[in-house]
Amino acid sequence: MASILVTGCAGFIGSHLAERLLHDGHRVVGLDNFDPFYPRARKQENLRACLQHPRFTFHEADLRQGLDALVDALPADPIEVVVHLAAKAGVGPSVREPVAYLENNVIGTTHLLEWMRHREITKLFFASSSSVYGNTPERPFREDMPLLAACISPYAASKLSGEQLTYTYHHLYGLDVLNARFFTVYGPRQRPDLAIHKFVRLLRDGQPIPVFGDGTTARDYTFVLDTVDGIARGVDYLLRQENVYDTLNLGNNRPVPLLELIDAVGRAVGQTPALSFQPMQAGDVDITYADISKAQRLLGYAPQTTLAQGLQEFVHWLDQTRS
Ligand SMILES: NC(=O)c1ccc[n+]([C@@H]2O[C@H](COP(=O)([O-])OP(=O)(O)OC[C@H]3O[C@@H](n4cnc5c(N)ncnc54)[C@H](O)[C@@H]3O)[C@@H](O)[C@H]2O)c1
Repeated sequence: MASILVTGCAGFIGSHLAERLLHDGHRVVGLDNFDPFYPRARKQENLRACLQHPRFTFHEADLRQGLDALVDALPADPIEVVVHLAAKAGVGPSVREPVAYLENNVIGTTHLLEWMRHREITKLFFASSSSVYGNTPERPFREDMPLLAACISPYAASKLSGEQLTYTYHHLYGLDVLNARFFTVYGPRQRPDLAIHKFVRLLRDGQPIPVFGDGTTARDYTFVLDTVDGIARGVDYLLRQENVYDTLNLGNNRPVPLLELIDAVGRAVGQTPALSFQPMQAGDVDITYADISKAQRLLGYAPQTTLAQGLQEFVHWLDQTRS
């Protein structure tokens, strides 16, 4: 059993991860600032099962407030690994509010790294994003592709900056790091701004689904419990290994074109979608497609959930939360 700090614990991925780590026998210290991007009540509901668990504690704190605030907010008990999921997520809003995204995701991450140094915590799992690949023409995306001129949104730039910062702390202070690039995660508790969540709500409300571009853009949709399995394996890897610095894709290795996704969502909901074609949105990439062989080799990562299964799980969850 280890003690693990999960930042962004009240969010979509963080709350599932906390449940998984508790199930695996770990102690989980959760941190979140209830960023108002979507309702606090939703995030409190995400945490409900964890809050009843004896090995879980929750601490409301904002990474932007700096080292002293983190020292005050978090317990002094030993922590072996930090899983850093807290971020302002999403491409579109980052184009509208670049400074807020960079302050939160880059400065906030730096404060966390300083707190880890202060507490002599030496193992970090950092949530990066497929968006760092931008419109890199070679596919599937491999972790060793050069990315210095790839990011096409402030969100992507904030995530690549995070990866660079974790390297700096690895070099300077010997921090063991796994950076994981997640690929369009979906499933129960998914953020309301993300496509699948929006599409199911629109269908349920009898509204047309917006298709940005001609419908051929594609995403490597990954079911949340598959992503969480990759993170849990990453935590175990960090606990076992010394002198680690690696970057991994946690995707599904199967890009789904937008029109195919909408069709699959329609089948999961039992309705035929009406479409409303719109121009591409600024900052959006054409395709995401993960080469997952490195994560398979290092962690034994192997996503299990088909799109049809994952969509059923999502629709079931949304119907329960709406009733
Ligand atoms: N969902 C995806 O498809 C996806 C894809 C790639 C990467 N990611 C990354 O995975 C992580 C989790 O994403 P998610 O979809 O669960 O998002 P989410 O918004 O549901 O969760 C993020 C959580 O972080 C918290 N947070 C934000 N800023 C904070 C701060 N300054 N201090 C403390 N807490 C803060 C928020 O309140 C929220 O609960 C993020 O880093 C995101 O960038 C997600």
